[in-house]
Amino acid sequence: MVFQAPKLRIIYLLISIFLLLINPCATQIFFNYTDFSQTIKNKPINRTGNATILGSVIQLTPDEVDNWGRATYSEQMHLWDEKSGKVANFTSNFSFIIDSQGKDRYSDGITFFLSTPNFPDPRPTDGAGLGLVSRKQMGQPSFLAANKFVAVEFDTFQNEEFDQPNLVSEHVGININNMMSQTSTPWYCTIKENRTYSASINYDASTQNLSVTFTGFNYDNTTIQQHLSLVINLTDHLPESVEFGFSASTGLISELHILSTWSFESTSPSTIQQSPAPSVEKNKDEPKTKLVVGLSLGACILIIGLLLVCFVYGKKRREGKGEKEEGLVSNKEGT
Ligand SMILES: *[C@@H]1O[C@H](CO)[C@@H](O)[C@H](O)[C@H]1NC(C)=O
Ligand SMILES: *[C@@H]1O[C@H](CO)[C@@H](O)[C@H](O)[C@H]1NC(C)=O
Ligand SMILES: *[C@@H]1O[C@H](CO)[C@@H](O)[C@H](O)[C@H]1NC(C)=O
Ligand SMILES: *[C@@H]1O[C@H](CO)[C@@H](O)[C@H](O)[C@H]1NC(C)=O
Ligand SMILES: *[C@@H]1O[C@H](CO)[C@@H](O)[C@H](O)[C@H]1NC(C)=O
Ligand SMILES: *[C@@H]1O[C@H](CO)[C@@H](O)[C@H](O)[C@H]1NC(C)=O
Ligand SMILES: *[C@@H]1O[C@H](CO)[C@@H](O)[C@H](O)[C@H]1NC(C)=O
Ligand SMILES: *[C@@H]1O[C@H](CO)[C@@H](O)[C@H](O)[C@H]1NC(C)=O
Ligand SMILES: *[C@@H]1O[C@H](CO)[C@@H](O)[C@H](O)[C@H]1NC(C)=O
Repeated sequence: MVFQAPKLRIIYLLISIFLLLINPCATQIFFNYTDFSQTIKNKPINRTGNATILGSVIQLTPDEVDNWGRATYSEQMHLWDEKSGKVANFTSNFSFIIDSQGKDRYSDGITFFLSTPNFPDPRPTDGAGLGLVSRKQMGQPSFLAANKFVAVEFDTFQNEEFDQPNLVSEHVGININNMMSQTSTPWYCTIKENRTYSASINYDASTQNLSVTFTGFNYDNTTIQQHLSLVINLTDHLPESVEFGFSASTGLISELHILSTWSFESTSPSTIQQSPAPSVEKNKDEPKTKLVVGLSLGACILIIGLLLVCFVYGKKRREGKGEKEEGLVSNKEGT
């Protein structure tokens, strides 16, 4: 026993360093909610407006006029890094229901958005801005300069002031600090019925491609995959750290908005993995990048080291065999 303890310590250290070298803190945020009733116990989802947890889902708005709701992750995402100029990749997969419960006229829709933290409530409330901004705020350049957003909208109502006239009023669009979409496409949905839609939103920082894949329905009710994408430099449009999640609203007419599941993953904006874009000036940035990578790698090793010391100390004090597992778990959470 006495001789085994130091050996174990070295093995842990070697394994930790090995894991770090093949994957140096690449993942920044990862979560996978298939049941939102569990989020009360675990990491909470922040809810504002009329959003409520109903069983396993989040009801962003009920099917009632003049409601709005938001559900955002409780922590900010580090989207880009001023010093290194690096930007995070992220993927947001979710499923949702928009249901007018048989009504022929309905509004307004859901967005997945990234924004300046502590984004203000949409006041005075109206449906047009999909729970993100009010008409009044949309018309104030100073408000928009202080409160930035990039959103993917699943819009079920055609607002003549800012929506493109499409074949169908339901559309999916990408909005940059403006409810007038930068790009949009008709959405083949069936809002009168209780159907579940899935969407996958991905940002690839190396190509600056924000792409969206979402469910649509053919006339024969079979599902199709629809697509929309936009090349956008997010550092031009959002602060380094952002709040992110969903918003929805109803106006003079209404529909039910439900978020059923949500999984999310983002990389750290300062890792080795980023493939350098083909650029002549790139060499200038190389030492800086290496420094940042070195520093973050160093920080990771330091944290692991400290956790190991704590673990070994705790183990020595308690001398219990069960603590071994706990030590490993807290190691993972700390990185
Ligand atoms: C999320 O959890 C569900 C249910 O446990 C699982 O089927 C799915 O693969 C998970 N998704 C990810 C990205 O881990
Ligand atoms: C939505 O929230 C507003 C403001 O708190 C409230 O007046 C309204 O009754 C809520 N709607 C429903 C259906 O609960
Ligand atoms: C979520 O709510 C908590 C508690 O009000 C707050 O401390 C935290 O900053 C919020 N998260 C975000 C990303 O705004
Ligand atoms: C709508 O569909 C969901 C998912 O299939 C189901 O859980 C829910 O009960 C349905 N709601 C109604 C009103 O039928
Ligand atoms: C962006 O990604 C989508 C989905 O992978 C792809 O269809 C599209 O061509 C890409 N756009 C550009 C400009 O590369
Ligand atoms: C599509 O589904 C609805 C009910 O969900 C049904 O009323 C309609 O007849 C179906 N259409 C086709 C072409 O199967
Ligand atoms: C993105 O925008 C930032 C800020 O304007 C700029 O520094 C950077 O060079 C841009 N990146 C690319 C690849 O154009
Ligand atoms: C999102 O969905 C894509 C495509 O199904 C999958 O490759 C990816 O792992 C998913 N990511 C998360 C975080 O759920
Ligand atoms: C972002 O994704 C692209 C394409 O998958 C990859 O080449 C790049 O290394 C990723 N960047 C980071 C920081 O993980």
